[in-house]
Amino acid sequence: MSAQPDTTSADAQDGFTPVCAVGDVAPGTAARADVDGRIVALVRDADGGWHCVDDRCTHADVSLAEGEVDGCTLECWLHGSRFDLRTGEPSGPPATRPVAVHEVRVDGDDVLVRLSR
Ligand code: FES
Repeated sequence: MSAQPDTTSADAQDGFTPVCAVGDVAPGTAARADVDGRIVALVRDADGGWHCVDDRCTHADVSLAEGEVDGCTLECWLHGSRFDLRTGEPSGPPATRPVAVHEVRVDGDDVLVRLSR
């Protein structure tokens, strides 16, 4: 199940916006978040690595944060395309276009995101 991290754009630093605390997203899960009005899927992989992509499958308008995290991929729950969390590229159809990937930084207990575009 997804958490709903809070964002506080007023605290943005170097383009990074605080999104949530480290403990808000369990390893191997994804959470939907609003970063300065952009809805993203914040992912913590099973090894504790953080990733962030747009929370909209490029095949249809469904939330990727509701999908399954598997290694460094996020699988769309509706038709099963897997998006590489490092590049945003889908591994196969039906999705053919990548999702935007955003930079994540962990500072102490805070998880911050810098939108790519
Ligand atoms: S809606 Fe995501 S693969 Fe079809």
